[in-house]
Amino acid sequence: MRYPTNDLEHHWMPFSSNKDFKKEPRLIVEGKGVHFTSHHGKELIDAVSGLFCSPAGHSRPEIAEAVYEQLKEMSYMPPFQHAHPASFELARRVKALAPGDLDYTFFANSGSEAVETALKMALLYHRVRGEGQRMRLVGRERGYHGVNFAGFSVGGMVKNREMYGLGVPGVLHMRHTWTEEQRFSKGQPENGAELADDLQRFCDLHGGDTIAACIVEPVAGSTGCLIPPKGYLERLREICDTHGILLIMDEVICGFGRLGSNFGATRFDVQPDIITMAKALTNGSIPMAAVTVSDKIYKTITDAAPEKGVDFFHGYTYSAHPAACAAGIAALTIYEEEGLFDRAKQLEKPFLERLYALQDLSVVTDIRGIGLLAGVDLAPDGNPGARGYQAVRDFYEAGVMTKMTGDTLLIAPPFVSTEADLDRMFELIRGVISKY
Ligand SMILES: Cc1ncc(COP(=O)(O)O)c(C=O)c1O
Repeated sequence: MRYPTNDLEHHWMPFSSNKDFKKEPRLIVEGKGVHFTSHHGKELIDAVSGLFCSPAGHSRPEIAEAVYEQLKEMSYMPPFQHAHPASFELARRVKALAPGDLDYTFFANSGSEAVETALKMALLYHRVRGEGQRMRLVGRERGYHGVNFAGFSVGGMVKNREMYGLGVPGVLHMRHTWTEEQRFSKGQPENGAELADDLQRFCDLHGGDTIAACIVEPVAGSTGCLIPPKGYLERLREICDTHGILLIMDEVICGFGRLGSNFGATRFDVQPDIITMAKALTNGSIPMAAVTVSDKIYKTITDAAPEKGVDFFHGYTYSAHPAACAAGIAALTIYEEEGLFDRAKQLEKPFLERLYALQDLSVVTDIRGIGLLAGVDLAPDGNPGARGYQAVRDFYEAGVMTKMTGDTLLIAPPFVSTEADLDRMFELIRGVISKY
């Protein structure tokens, strides 16, 4: 343990019950491969890749060395009107993985920042084309697009929104894509494509030419792995094309192999205009996010700017930070050299077999899984969320790291997991929920 502490008072932890945590803390002091170690020396197998961040496993020395070397050579430089070579190399690598003509990449530091960036790009794109009346943004119920103002506004997680006023104006929400009849279905649900017509209804009601962008996760991750019904994303694309609306896919979770393909857009074969990504971009090692856009968007915006003027009045002090770029290049190199996206694809079948075997437990009310991403709904115990809250502790005690969202368990193993690791994860998960 590098920094032992006896004082847990002063860190205000995110998305946590600070009071409760500090009475009985769960500190993680080491992460290696697919395992964490707690401050009591207890090993936990990681069934959620940190927080969907670390498909190549924890504390990869290749990434640590690349970051160390970069920090020794140049730990910081100002990213406005100057740049450093690693950022161009990383952008080139992202382009090689991104589908279609998503050829230009802007860097940020978190998924939330990537979302704000993408939405501003969409508004700007229309504005410079003389369609500044396109100010509406369309999101979806049960969507998660981070915690910043535009992100929570287009997002559809009630607890993240209800205390923070009105959010940004002009936001419309489509219905989410989960329906009763999908319960325990496997793969993409057969029914529900027509839910995309909510976007058409907004066009009918408000005028399609008032809408700048529609943002969705290919698979809604944070609200429990909601898989798009067959034809749904295709239909969204069609409506966007008809009305000149930009389609943004938020791939902060789905990107970089989680669905067994480079991106969710690749897996579902639907081309977005913009993709947001973060988490696995650096294997979770250094905060970094990216927004990759089509040639059309980049060129329209940069061509509209004066020859000697800024094209996008937006950026972060730490955009394309040298250490983050080094980490990103090292992570993408590992994915490529170890064929990890293909490995995720190969593991999908054994993963889903083990996942759907949980169906025999009476507390399990639905299971959804695709790629190496799954949601398992547990029947509530009294107040909604109470069981999920308890489950965080129970999984920790049992020695398996998972993520609970309300009463839904999220599972997303690292791609370097072996089948024996999957066995162990599901054995421990079953051990906990079979007691409910
Ligand atoms: C789809 C999606 N968008 C945005 C975010 C926000 O990312 P961050 O927590 O890095 O700000 C997340 C985080 O889980 C996410 O899943």
